[in-house]
Amino acid sequence: MSVHIGAEPGQIAPRVLLPGDPLRAKWIAETYLDDPVCYSTVRNMLGFTGRYRGVEVSVQGTGMGMPSAAIYVQELLAEYGATTLIRVGSCGAISDALGLRDVVAAIGSSTDSAMNRLRFDGLIDYAPVADFELLRTAVDVAGEHGVAMRVGPIVASDPFYHPRPDLYDRLAEHGTLAVEMESAALYTLAAKFQARALAILTVSDHLKTGEHLPSADREQSFHQMATIGLETAVR
Ligand code: ADE
Repeated sequence: MSVHIGAEPGQIAPRVLLPGDPLRAKWIAETYLDDPVCYSTVRNMLGFTGRYRGVEVSVQGTGMGMPSAAIYVQELLAEYGATTLIRVGSCGAISDALGLRDVVAAIGSSTDSAMNRLRFDGLIDYAPVADFELLRTAVDVAGEHGVAMRVGPIVASDPFYHPRPDLYDRLAEHGTLAVEMESAALYTLAAKFQARALAILTVSDHLKTGEHLPSADREQSFHQMATIGLETAVR
């Protein structure tokens, strides 16, 4: 096993879906995968491997925020040979163009996190971006499923309760669609390990209007996102 994932080598597929919530990982595995097997319960950050359309796929919870997500992403890449990582999660809309339940694919991810400043000695403002082929496939898949997926830049923020929410307005003025908390670390680590990564997100709240998705509505919206993520992963 690695430090935080209790799997033997070979128990995790090269294609991995990454929800933040470990119970969402369980739900995806039990809802969509054939013969899902739980390979890790370390810290209750559940991980499963099964088959989708006959192809091996794993689903690994990452927890919230880049310090947590980067642990799982790094171990999947460095110790289990993951090659395709697709985050499926929620985001808060900061653009007027988005509404609740919209599905967003993040082409790039700005961040207020210090993680990349550490990586580049504070000398480069690195631009974490999605894998182009994966993004193109996800756009095709969304179209085939009749989902009007929005593609654009997002921001990955360290604080959920942000002390400078006015910065979200400035980011929105610069074309940023939404905020979540993991994608910049995911894209940076995937690049470092020559792997492919994409974040697909469902709008669960709107920071400008204060609206929230009622929890009863979440399943259907997450269904669209999980389907796009899985179909993209196995193509
Ligand atoms: N994920 C979902 N909603 C969010 C928000 N408002 N801020 C950060 N991450 C989120």
